[in-house]
Amino acid sequence: MSVITDWTPEKARAFTRANLAFEHGLHERPMFDDAGLESLLDRYPRDKLGVFTMGHDPVDWQSWRRGSAGDLSGRQLLNAAKEGRIWLNLRHANDYLEDYAALEAEVFSEKTERTGVRTFKRDLGVLISSANAQVFYHLDVPLVSLWQVRGQKRVWVYPVAAPHVGPEQLEKIVLRETAEQMAFQPAFDGVAEVFDLTPGKMVTWAQNAPHRIENGPMLNVSLSMEFMTPAALMRANVLYANAVLRKAGARPSVQAVPHPGALAKIALARAVKVSGMSKTFDKSLPTTFTLDPARPGVPVDLAA
Ligand SMILES: [Fe+2]
Repeated sequence: MSVITDWTPEKARAFTRANLAFEHGLHERPMFDDAGLESLLDRYPRDKLGVFTMGHDPVDWQSWRRGSAGDLSGRQLLNAAKEGRIWLNLRHANDYLEDYAALEAEVFSEKTERTGVRTFKRDLGVLISSANAQVFYHLDVPLVSLWQVRGQKRVWVYPVAAPHVGPEQLEKIVLRETAEQMAFQPAFDGVAEVFDLTPGKMVTWAQNAPHRIENGPMLNVSLSMEFMTPAALMRANVLYANAVLRKAGARPSVQAVPHPGALAKIALARAVKVSGMSKTFDKSLPTTFTLDPARPGVPVDLAA
């Protein structure tokens, strides 16, 4: 039984090249029920756990704050997500936990079998987030697929083009020169492709496509799977080389398909650090709140 239940030859061909919606069966697995999530939160390395809260205005990316989970148990953390306004991010769960490593192997071997695309630098992350929480407008360097397991969320995916993201902005993100979120304008939503995710739905989008997310009015559990393919890594390397060239005064452009110019640029690029802008941004944030076991949903400000 395959994880994705609606493969077609057309989808297999378009995989990694277009925004695509799929159906899957992961939401039926007990590893994502309350007991499974509590166990996951207890077993996942606490120092790697991303804990965030945020405001309500999709333009106000500066309201994104990092917190600390302290010594809360998995059950208390799950309660915090159910009752509060937090976003728990368990990146690279496949690197730390055997059951998630097995899930990664299962999902990605199926992708390769169905599409012929080789994948690497795989990051299977688990997102456990509160009712109505949001992730601000941003983009990621690798390819991404977002799998909905519990609850509902809306995902807006924007074109990889100005004014949504310009070449210089993209290059800065690949170079990790910018710690700023990208400016979002509500008018962008008019050209976005909108995906309403419910349990059993997955969406994957074109590499580097800006996106933002809003949860429905309930606990959300999703899997974020990031990965590279040879073509995706080449694109990232070309962007990196372009950034270097632009700094030297040239006016480079992105080559969509590999050709000799792109290959020459890659020779100029050092190894690209595969990282999304959100990751860079998150790492630069100070820890400004903690969670109180007595009132697990309420962020408690730390003294400045
Ligand atoms: Fe993202």
